[in-house]
Amino acid sequence: MKSVTYIKCADQVVTMKGASHLPKKGNEMSEIGVIENGSIILENDKISFVGSDQEAAQYLESLNGAATTIEASGKIVTPGLIDPHTHLVFAGSREKELEMRLQGAKYIDILKQGGGILSSTRSTREATMEQLVEQASRRLDRFLQYGVTTVEAKSGYGLTVEDELKQLRAAKVLNSIHAIDLVSTFMGAHAIPAEYKDNPDAYVNLVIEEMIPVVAREGLAEFCDVFCEEGVFTVEQSEKILEAGKRYGLLPKIHADEIVRIGGAELAAKVGAVSAEHLLQASDEGIQALAESGTIAVLLPGTAFFLMEKPARARAMIDAGVAIAISTDCNPGSSPTQSMPFVMNAACLMMKMTPAEVLASATINAAHAIGLADRIGSIEVGKTADLVLFQASNYQTLQYNFAVNLVDTVIKNGKVVVQ
Ligand code: NIG
Ligand code: FE
Repeated sequence: MKSVTYIKCADQVVTMKGASHLPKKGNEMSEIGVIENGSIILENDKISFVGSDQEAAQYLESLNGAATTIEASGKIVTPGLIDPHTHLVFAGSREKELEMRLQGAKYIDILKQGGGILSSTRSTREATMEQLVEQASRRLDRFLQYGVTTVEAKSGYGLTVEDELKQLRAAKVLNSIHAIDLVSTFMGAHAIPAEYKDNPDAYVNLVIEEMIPVVAREGLAEFCDVFCEEGVFTVEQSEKILEAGKRYGLLPKIHADEIVRIGGAELAAKVGAVSAEHLLQASDEGIQALAESGTIAVLLPGTAFFLMEKPARARAMIDAGVAIAISTDCNPGSSPTQSMPFVMNAACLMMKMTPAEVLASATINAAHAIGLADRIGSIEVGKTADLVLFQASNYQTLQYNFAVNLVDTVIKNGKVVVQ
């Protein structure tokens, strides 16, 4: 039997209407399609009506059947939040590194000394797939409590063929058992594993010749990502890996210009990357290149906060006409959080993005960054019914209140999953 849900008379419905074909860039990020006193009707897992409450009542009558009503007055409704960049699946944790960093150690130096990503790699290699599923599942539960309904998840703590596959298979299992939908990215090029320390090119070859083909053959990822950074993968190595991924149908993403400006943004534009991530050090030319190639800048202000660094230049990017998405970067070293609302606060307060721009970045633009904007990211007829009700009477309140969870109800595929 068809299930009908009537979300009645929210103070505001923030629709993000009209950006399913292309991400919102530059000034378009402020046009978020707010309906005052709006209602939404869901039929099964899809949105079938959005508009004024009066019209909603008429539409409901035409359906001629029982509907479950969710009273939304005093609340706002937004599309389900989308996190387009996480390192969700890993084992172990790295509290000690926080203490080291508080005493002045640098994130990248900890990695160079065999800690950081390599420490999580050791723990992840030791874990079974079932243990990875169990630990990541608890993180997903928290994501859901914070209003997140879709998450991208990268591999990159295995760094052997088998251990990378184990991480990606764990993500596949999680996608099938958890309410949150997952999109997978292969990131075998996350660090040079210890056993290849003296021969990084041999590891690059392993990624290209063995890992990418098997990941593609088993259909375990949609995207391929590389940590293009001084002391990690060079621009040349990154390009080779991303081009190899493309040949196997994996769309390129890139961790670019995070710590040292080495031309990661320019490379993202050159290879036609769907997104370039971090970009703390991106040059003016790099930003311009992203605008011209239509590459989405995925910004991670929670990471800048946790690493105590200056965040990316979001305003310069918006002025240049770049489309921005934001994300937690959830990972054990540089951003151990599942709170998109916190990251949204940080985007506003640290990068001076307006509340409207922040919402566009966490919904429709994030959907574009993971290739799902035809299905999710906005409240439009025909789209999947992934929605969040917040305890707020206008969308600005989401950034005015900070470090609190205003999530009231989360709806995933038309079903209430958090209440
Ligand atoms: O996006 N910068 C590289 N990768 C992750 C951090 C991973 C880790 O420290 O475990 C990031 O910040
Ligand atoms: Fe990351």
